[in-house]
Amino acid sequence: MAKIIAGVGSSHVPAIGAALDNGKTEEPYWKRVFSGFEKSKEWMAKTKPDVAIVVYNDHASAFSVEMIPTFALGCAAEFPPADEGWGPRPVPVVKGHPALAAHIAQSVILDEFDLTIVNKMEVDHGLTVPMNLLFGQPKDAWPCPVIPLAVNVVMYPPPTGHRCYMLGKALRRAVESYPEDLKVVIFGTGGLSHQISGPRAGLINSKWDKSFLDNLSKDPKKLTRIPHLEYMREAGAEGIEMVMWLIMRGARDDKGDEVYRFYTVPASNTAVGHIILENARKASGTRKVAGKSKRGSAGKSRQAAARKSIHRIASKGKR
Ligand code: DHB
Ligand code: FE
Repeated sequence: MAKIIAGVGSSHVPAIGAALDNGKTEEPYWKRVFSGFEKSKEWMAKTKPDVAIVVYNDHASAFSVEMIPTFALGCAAEFPPADEGWGPRPVPVVKGHPALAAHIAQSVILDEFDLTIVNKMEVDHGLTVPMNLLFGQPKDAWPCPVIPLAVNVVMYPPPTGHRCYMLGKALRRAVESYPEDLKVVIFGTGGLSHQISGPRAGLINSKWDKSFLDNLSKDPKKLTRIPHLEYMREAGAEGIEMVMWLIMRGARDDKGDEVYRFYTVPASNTAVGHIILENARKASGTRKVAGKSKRGSAGKSRQAAARKSIHRIASKGKR
């Protein structure tokens, strides 16, 4: 059975990608940022996930104002780096995991979260920068396949923090009903506080960011009640990217260990935050997933029925 073994939160900033691509990582300004991810890269190299689910936002690279899905799941075999105005970044093409992605789409949609299925998509700094921060700069290939989950946080109305948190829980149910033994790490990316334009451009609110990280670790339900206006007021217009961290947190166990945290200000216009939250349960599959669910019985039986049909499809495929 597949398992989500940890959640990783990480900011994305295009200038971090540019610093990597232009050999500026040793400059003091950037060294301060990159040094905060050294231990994380070691953790990731030791953890060796089989698959990463990367919750991120597209910045008008794959989508535009013409069409913006709220939640879009990348089901393709590969996702090339997007040209964000200065040519595609010199990073490897991101390889997908179409079988697990299709399973997640089926499980989550039958669980009544209406994801958009995306079979062709380029990925921008929202996905590639956190990948670099955690996996380094591989020349030819990323160390594991990736399932991108793009979230609309660029055009009103973005999803609520609560919806994101509940989607995380649905993702976990999806992963844990996949029959193959896979270690999965889920990323929540974006943020922390920043505002790029307008009279409040340059806004950073470290106090609010740090309290967000504390609650993410210990009391995520409190975060699910934060309205959009509070993100805007306290964390700046682009601070709304932080709702994506709640998808990651919902996908993790209620209890678990915070094994690492880093915070620095600024990188470009942005407060950079990073956290690693391991799951309490080991990846040995000792616990019955459905048995511990806190959902109502109607939800449980709907999901059980959906899962039964998923298993039927999965075992048919094996014959
Ligand atoms: C910056 C931050 C972002 O999240 C982004 O998408 C673009 C720019 C910045 O800090 O400059
Ligand atoms: Fe952004």
